[in-house]
Amino acid sequence: MSNVEGNPAEISVGKKARPVAGARMIPVFIMGRRYEVPESLTIMKAIEYAGFKFIRGCGCRGGICGACATVYRKPGDYRIHVGLACQTVVEPEIYLTQIPFYPANRVGYRFEELKPVPQELFRCVACNACTKICPMDIEVMDAVSDLKQGNIKKAAELTFDCIQCGLCASRCFGELPKYHIFQLARRIYGGKIAPKAEHLKGAVQVITKEKRYDKMLKSLMQMNEEELRKAYLEREMEPVTAAEDWRPSEKRFLLE
Ligand code: FES
Repeated sequence: MSNVEGNPAEISVGKKARPVAGARMIPVFIMGRRYEVPESLTIMKAIEYAGFKFIRGCGCRGGICGACATVYRKPGDYRIHVGLACQTVVEPEIYLTQIPFYPANRVGYRFEELKPVPQELFRCVACNACTKICPMDIEVMDAVSDLKQGNIKKAAELTFDCIQCGLCASRCFGELPKYHIFQLARRIYGGKIAPKAEHLKGAVQVITKEKRYDKMLKSLMQMNEEELRKAYLEREMEPVTAAEDWRPSEKRFLLE
C-alpha cells in the first residue's frame, strides 16, 4: 500500500470507499499516524479514505482470499485483535497494522510418499492460540489434533472455510504453518479419500474427448473487447426466481 497524492476525500468517493451519509468521523491510527475516517467504513476502505492506495495484494475485498489479515489494538484493552480488513468495521482509536501474508516454506511432496502422521505435527502444544486468532472461527487446534490422529477427513471438513491468511502461524508455538498443512489435508481428502464424483468422468470426457467447448472458446478468443462486452451483456442469465429445473435456451453446452 502507498500514500497517494491529492485529496483523500476524492478517493473515498471513488468506486471503493463511499461513506454512509451522515456517518460520524472517528480517529484511527494507520502505521502509527492518526487519521479521521467515517465510522461506517471497513478497515480496508478507511485506509483508502485516509489516502492510501492498494497497489497490489489487496485481494478479493469479499472475505474469501485471506490477503487482508489485520492486527489491531483498542484503547484500554490488553488484547490483540485480528480481523479481515475488508470485513471488519473501524472503531474509534483503533491502532492498525496489516499482515499481507505470513511466510512459509514451500514443500514439494508426492502423494504416494507421504507419511500417515508427520512427526512435525507433534510440535503443536495444544495451546489453542491458533483457534483464538482465526478470523474465520475455525477450530484450528482441533483440526491439528485430528491430523495427529490421522483423521484427514475430519481435519479437511473442519478447515473448509480456511482462507489462508496465515494468522494461525503467527501465534503457533510449534512454528507450524497450519494453513498450508490444512490445505494439504484437503487435497489428500479430495484426491484420495472422498468418494469420486460420478458425473465428473462424463464432464471430462465431454471437454477433452468430444471437445464440445473448443469451437465456442475459440470464437470468444477471437473477439475484441467491444464484442466481448456485448456478448457478456447479452448473455442469457438465470432469473433470480428460477425454479430448480431451469435450463438456458441454448442447450448445446449442457452436460446432461
Ligand atoms: S481482501 Fe480477500 S479476504 Fe479481505
